[in-house]
Amino acid sequence: MNVKESLLETFAESNGEYISGALLAEKLGVSRNAVWKAVKSLETEGYSIEAVTSRGYRLTAENNHLSDKLINAFLKTEHIGKNITVLDETDSTNNFAKELASSGAEHGTVVVADMQTSGKGRLGRNFVSPKGKGLYMSVIIRPDFSIETASLITSAAACATACAVEKLCRHDVKIKWVNDLYMNGRKMCGILTEASCGLEIKSLDYAVIGIGINVRSAEGSFSRELRVSATSIEDETGLKIDRNRLCAEVINSLETYLSEMENHNYIREYRNRELLTGNTITANVNGSTIIAFAEGIDDNANLIIKLPDGTIKHLNSGEANLCRVIE
Ligand code: BTN
Repeated sequence: MNVKESLLETFAESNGEYISGALLAEKLGVSRNAVWKAVKSLETEGYSIEAVTSRGYRLTAENNHLSDKLINAFLKTEHIGKNITVLDETDSTNNFAKELASSGAEHGTVVVADMQTSGKGRLGRNFVSPKGKGLYMSVIIRPDFSIETASLITSAAACATACAVEKLCRHDVKIKWVNDLYMNGRKMCGILTEASCGLEIKSLDYAVIGIGINVRSAEGSFSRELRVSATSIEDETGLKIDRNRLCAEVINSLETYLSEMENHNYIREYRNRELLTGNTITANVNGSTIIAFAEGIDDNANLIIKLPDGTIKHLNSGEANLCRVIE
């Protein structure tokens, strides 16, 4: 590790406390002048560092510069995030991750970007991904479970992400079946899982879990139409969350939820967070719009609906989309 990398790691570990130049020099085994030079160089790279006479240096709470070193400093995982690529810009982190996966990238490889030029949502939609405003990340997993269990990945990832955001923001996060996260009734995160099946019947070669979280206020980046339904963590909580910390929390949480996915226990939490449940909804089912009552979520993360004639149906995410609550 060079001086800049050690400095970043020390800043991350100090959790926003000032550290004197003398202490940093001693810890890193370099001169105070070398510390000062490394600080200046990090500032040029975009890190926001505060220097206060007689107190020392610290990474400001508002630092918004993404870095694998800072993400790493908060990781508690065994596999996911051991290999992280941070990009200034890409078309879509899911596309980038899929290319890495098809050339053999290992389970748990993570791709994060500061902006996406063609961020992808479900149903061929665009996911607006302005520079410096969101956490746009994709995680490659090479699971050994069956295709049936693989259908739970998105719902488990939704729970994992909700839990990570809640931990840092101390603000309720809800899930709208199947893959959207909401704060105060507006969407602040979407998840898109793309899978590649192996030649073996019923085997999954890899899956890429793409998570897009609107972190900082993106006023001006969203169209007027989108502003009605979309929001960001900052707009709802006033908090300027560090995207490095959030990325690490999402990875930590994802590893836990994925490892416990096969026993379906997380479904109870999913149900508690789910927003359609208990409401009359419209949904697009196999191309037709229907009206139904959302009864709840079954053990396989399917939406249970009751049709006007009393028939009960269990819909999977491939069959139904564009579900909306009728107010
Ligand atoms: C949706 O809202 O329908 C899903 C949005 C998923 C967006 C994320 S951002 C990171 C990853 N890369 C993409 O192109 N899409 C996902």
